[in-house]
Amino acid sequence: MARERKQASAKDTLSELWPSQRSENSIALLKSLHILTRDGALNADSRRKLKQVLHLTQLLRPSLDAMLQESENPVLADLGAGKSYLGFVLYDLILGPAGRGQVFAVETRQELVEHSRSLAASCGFDRMDFLAAPIATATLPGGHADMVTALHACDTATDDAIRFALRHEARRIALVPCCQAELPRLLEGKRGPLNQLWRHPIQRREFGAHLTNVIRGLVLEAHGYKVRVTELVGLEHSLKNELILAERHQRSNPLARAELDQLVSQLGVTPGLLDVMNG
Ligand SMILES: C[S@@+](CC[C@H](N)C(=O)[O-])C[C@H]1O[C@@H](n2cnc3c(N)ncnc32)[C@H](O)[C@@H]1O
Repeated sequence: MARERKQASAKDTLSELWPSQRSENSIALLKSLHILTRDGALNADSRRKLKQVLHLTQLLRPSLDAMLQESENPVLADLGAGKSYLGFVLYDLILGPAGRGQVFAVETRQELVEHSRSLAASCGFDRMDFLAAPIATATLPGGHADMVTALHACDTATDDAIRFALRHEARRIALVPCCQAELPRLLEGKRGPLNQLWRHPIQRREFGAHLTNVIRGLVLEAHGYKVRVTELVGLEHSLKNELILAERHQRSNPLARAELDQLVSQLGVTPGLLDVMNG
């Protein structure tokens, strides 16, 4: 009895917080994604997770709304999808109610892909598809995506996501990078006028991670994207996250290209992502 009362009140609170049309379905979904507790209740932890997911949805909503306006059947690709919670949430809250639009989730781990596939089937999310493949070699049917998201795609997997977005001519990109390890490694032992900036290992890690995202932003700008970088506080794995939002307005931007060239030559580093500048 007490448990039923607790579930009923969780459902009421959830329907206030979670603006989905099918709250029964959403409860099953959020339980599977461990956003709600196993018995469907909202505790302090699940309330916090729910708010974070909703906050991210709010940040991405304008891009998804624009994508839905521009295309009859827009394609969203979520890369390094893990359990695909972002794809599920965006489908439940935006693409599902819109009645159109396709989500493709790309993830290397076969068992996660299979789990997500069966969850999508049980939720009736028939416009969700899952590819068990590395981002670097994944190609969507039709070879096009309107929007690409990559949330915590570790280290250079975020660079693969940028290459994927360029290959699929995605107009919109949202990245939350993590574990940037390539540049800290390249900076080690690098001498030059600025080398005091990365003298100690912790500084190399922090500065290298920051520089990685600066270079990613410039690479996108050089490809004609307008880039906005904002902070996403408290999302899952770390306390502080950078959200890089990009929208393409032109084919290329020579000024941004010049800034990028100057920066990498001043620092004397050549991260792998620069290969996209040769295409
Ligand atoms: C830290 S998890 C993030 C999962 C999800 N995006 C999220 O934010 O909850 C990173 C996921 O990316 C996957 N991954 C890492 N590198 C990848 C690659 N190159 N191609 C496809 N998936 C990759 C991992 O298997 C893992 O599931």
